[in-house]
Amino acid sequence: MSAPAPTRRLFIKTYGCQMNVYDSERMADVLSPLGYGLTDDPQTADLVVLNTCHIREKATEKVYSELGKIREMKEARIAEGSTMTIAVAGCVAQAEGEEIMRRQPAVDLVVGPQAYHQLPELIARAHRARGERLAADFSPEAKFDALAAARRPTGVTAFLTVQEGCDKFCSFCVVPYTRGAEWSRPAQAIEAEARGLAEQGVREVTLLGQNVNAYAGPGIKEGGGLAALVRRLARIPGLDRIRYTTSHPRDMDAALIAAHAEIPELMPYLHLPVQSGSDKVLKAMNRAHTAESYLRLIERIRAARPDIAISGDFIVGFPGERDADFEATLSLIREIGYAAAFSFKYSRRPGTPAAAMPGQVAEEVKDERLHRLQALIEDQQTAFNAAQAGRRLDVLFEKPGRNPGQLIGRSPYLQSVHVTAPDRLLGQIVPVRIESAARNSLAGALELEPA
Ligand code: 5AD
Ligand code: SF4
Repeated sequence: MSAPAPTRRLFIKTYGCQMNVYDSERMADVLSPLGYGLTDDPQTADLVVLNTCHIREKATEKVYSELGKIREMKEARIAEGSTMTIAVAGCVAQAEGEEIMRRQPAVDLVVGPQAYHQLPELIARAHRARGERLAADFSPEAKFDALAAARRPTGVTAFLTVQEGCDKFCSFCVVPYTRGAEWSRPAQAIEAEARGLAEQGVREVTLLGQNVNAYAGPGIKEGGGLAALVRRLARIPGLDRIRYTTSHPRDMDAALIAAHAEIPELMPYLHLPVQSGSDKVLKAMNRAHTAESYLRLIERIRAARPDIAISGDFIVGFPGERDADFEATLSLIREIGYAAAFSFKYSRRPGTPAAAMPGQVAEEVKDERLHRLQALIEDQQTAFNAAQAGRRLDVLFEKPGRNPGQLIGRSPYLQSVHVTAPDRLLGQIVPVRIESAARNSLAGALELEPA
C-alpha cells in the first residue's frame, strides 16, 4: 500500500516491552495513510502518542511526568495558533483510562492495546467534537487483521506478535488485567505477515507474546503449539532466523524443546524467566513451578541444544523474601549460568494479590539485593561472552557500526558483534571469527572475504 507524502508530524514514545515496540510500529503504519510521518521532535509534532507500560510503578509515573512536559508543548503550540493532539496508548491507557483524563486534561484520547486499529477514527473524532475518547475494548483479532496489512519493515530483523495476554496471574503482575486473557493469532495470518516481511528483506523474526510458548493458534495441528508454528515459518524462503519471547516455564513442552534440537532456523537463545530461586517465594508468587523443576527443565533444554544461551527475569524483595530466600535465588543463578538477565525490585501494583501481602520488604534491602544479583549476572554475562572468543559464529549484519567500514550484527546467541566489513554485507549472514569479548558485545573478523 502506498501512503501519501507526510503532511502531519507524528511523534511516538515507547515505554516497556517489545510488544509495545511492535505496536508502536503498527500505529505508525496505520496512521501513515492519513498523512502522518514520523518525527523525533515532540515540540513540532501534530500528534504525540505515548505508548505506555504499567508493569512497575516507576514506568507508570514516568508517563505522567512526560505528559506534564507534552502539555507545555501543546500550550506553546496553541499560543502560536496551531495545535497538538495527545494520545495515550498501551497498558496504562488500558488500566487507568479515566484516571489519565482526570489527571491530565490536555490528553485528547486514550486507546488500549486492543483498539489501535481504531486510532484513525479516534483521532478524527478528537479533532472534530471531542466526542468518544476512550477505546479500551478487547478484540485482538480485529486489531491484528486491520494492522498487519500495512506493514513496512525498516530493517533485516522484525518483531511479529503471535500471542497476547496472560492467564497465569502471577501475584505481582498487572499483565493479566491490562492485556486480558491469553489469545493466539491464527497461524495463517502470522504466516502471511512473515512471508510479507521476508519478501521485503527481513531475515530474522522474533515472535512476540506475553506468554508466547502458550501459543495455540487456530490453524495449527491440535497440540502443535508454538513448535508447529516455528516449523511452519522456518519453511518460508529467506527467513533464516527465528526467535521467540517471552516464555513461561509451565508452557515449555516437549515439542518446543525438540524444536530447539531439530529446527536449524530456531536460534539457540531462550528467555525463560524464573523470578526467584526460593520455593516459598515462588509459591507466594503463584508461579506454578519450583526451583528444582526449573533446573530440571533447563537440563532437558540443554540436552536438546547444548549451546543454548539462557536468559531470565528476576524480582528481588517480593513480600516475605528473607535473606535465605534471596540466597536461594543467587545459588539458582550460579547453577544455571545465565547469558543475560533482567532484574527488578519488586514494585507494589494496586489490585494485584501481592500488593496486600504482609512482609513488604524495605527499599534499602531491595537495593542491596538487586545490586548483588546484578553483579552476579554481569559476571556470568561476561563469562558467556568470553567463552565465544576463538569461535566461528554466523553473524547477521544489521546496521553500520560507529566507525566507518564497520558493521554491527548479531550472533545466534543475540550478542552484538562488531566487525570490519563492507556495506554490501548488510542483511547477510556471514561467518565471523570472534577475536575479543566485552560484557555487552563481541568483536571479530570476517572468516573469508565472500565473493
Ligand atoms: N514488580 C517488579 N517486577 C515485575 N515484573 C512484573 N511485575 C512486576 C512487579 N510488580 C517483572 C517480572 C516480569 C518482567 C516482565 O517484569 O520479572 O518477568
Ligand atoms: Fe505477568 Fe506472570 Fe503473566 Fe508473565 S506469566 S505476564 S509475569 S502474570
